[in-house]
Amino acid sequence: MSLLRRIENQRPAGQQPAAPAAPGAPTPPAGLPPKAPAEGPLSQTPAPSRDTNRDVRLKLQTKIINNLDPRLDLSDAKAVRANIEEMFNKFLDEEGAVISRVERQKMLESILDEILGFGPIQPLLNDDTITEVMVNGPFRVYTERKGKLVLTDVSFQNDEHVMRIIERIIAPIGRRVDESKPFEDARLPDGSRVNIIIPPLALNGPVVTIRKFPKYRIMVEDYIKFGTATSEMMEFLRACVEARLNVFISGGTGSGKTTLLNIMSGFIPEDERIVTIEDAAELRLVQDHVVRLESRAANIEGKGAVTIMDLVKNSLRMRPERIVVGEVRGGEALSMLQAMNTGHANSPRDMISRLETMCLMSGADLPARAIREQIASALDLIVQISRLKDGSRKITNVTEVQGMEGEAVVLQDVFIFEQTAYIDGKVQGKMRPTGIRPKFSEKFEAAGIKLPQGVFGDMSGLLGR
Ligand SMILES: Nc1ncnc2c1ncn2[C@@H]1O[C@H](COP(=O)(O)OP(=O)(O)O)[C@@H](O)[C@H]1O
Ligand SMILES: [Mg+2]
Repeated sequence: MSLLRRIENQRPAGQQPAAPAAPGAPTPPAGLPPKAPAEGPLSQTPAPSRDTNRDVRLKLQTKIINNLDPRLDLSDAKAVRANIEEMFNKFLDEEGAVISRVERQKMLESILDEILGFGPIQPLLNDDTITEVMVNGPFRVYTERKGKLVLTDVSFQNDEHVMRIIERIIAPIGRRVDESKPFEDARLPDGSRVNIIIPPLALNGPVVTIRKFPKYRIMVEDYIKFGTATSEMMEFLRACVEARLNVFISGGTGSGKTTLLNIMSGFIPEDERIVTIEDAAELRLVQDHVVRLESRAANIEGKGAVTIMDLVKNSLRMRPERIVVGEVRGGEALSMLQAMNTGHANSPRDMISRLETMCLMSGADLPARAIREQIASALDLIVQISRLKDGSRKITNVTEVQGMEGEAVVLQDVFIFEQTAYIDGKVQGKMRPTGIRPKFSEKFEAAGIKLPQGVFGDMSGLLGR
């Protein structure tokens, strides 16, 4: 985005460049319908401000924005910073406001964030201990730290202020949100995932949810250290990947599915061709032979959408040895299962044509039993991960999909987590093998994979032989 454009965006709608902004003046947010005066219980009011220098700051900010040299190259952050800092010092002295050195620095940072960064949430984005940032309208900004939600004292001035930051997030990637398309996914330059939804769909005002891209990569050792899984479970999952079982990771939002998928993808042998398919590329595979595909939303005219399913279909023609799919959403689940089942076809040609037929059918009303059969034959293993009440993530079930029995899919837990108590805000419990050796363990032997004795519990060594 050009600096001129960005400065333009900073100005409240309809304001002439030369006129100083009136801070706090209620300007109807651009592109948003004017709010009804009474919004019932959903209406949100600003929290009492702890920001005593707010008025001075806003005044300076507006002055700086109006005086910024539009020819400055925004990508030269250093020069722009220096220019802003110089003006800041000059204008603040002109104000004659008495503020401490610390306050002064804070004010400068906040103005810099406003002009160059993502406004009030920039400090939260900089803070590595924060994993998620949630803007629920201008006056409620939450973060997630160590799995716990915390209301921050960060706030925006009004809906329009949030909209300006939203615009800044999505404009560089050629997207926009407005009344006709009031929600959008995006990514920050650092890879963080962003979802945006605005009025009239969002009743709190514009809502922004940012899943920060973790700087630190969670590894198998961390899983064991954090108590997310036991080393036996991880050994078992490694064997399942090496034996090319079809694994499905299941869990709520933020439960750690993508993280687990990353870890398990790390178990894929180095000499296999891997195709990854995602809505927003989050997987970071360590292997060298990886082809990464990303789906695409429709453009403003509603054209050009490429779904996960389209990519799965295409990937089958790419001689994949492994396909890692980031996320499966509602309508696509059936097609996905059918695609996986095509792996049982007699030849690649057979597989492709079956897939094509099935994609054509995917809108069809299949009887429940047929769908269950698809599930039973497509999947070998389901790994359930959960974010527990205390914020910890745990693999709660590692479950074999054994097949069909009558009308039902037969599932058999191999490992489970049993919660025993909740003491001092901590979930207590035990992860253990159920003692039942999965039916597919013969595939391990066929693939030459040896699991240590006792992985399946004390009895397994006796029962399995
Ligand atoms: N085992 C774990 N222990 C602690 N934090 C975790 C664990 N797994 C994931 N996380 C963190 O939880 C957040 C959500 O993880 P993610 O894998 O993206 O969830 P999902 O894909 O299920 O929405 C991330 O910030 C991630 O770093
Ligand atoms: Mg995910």
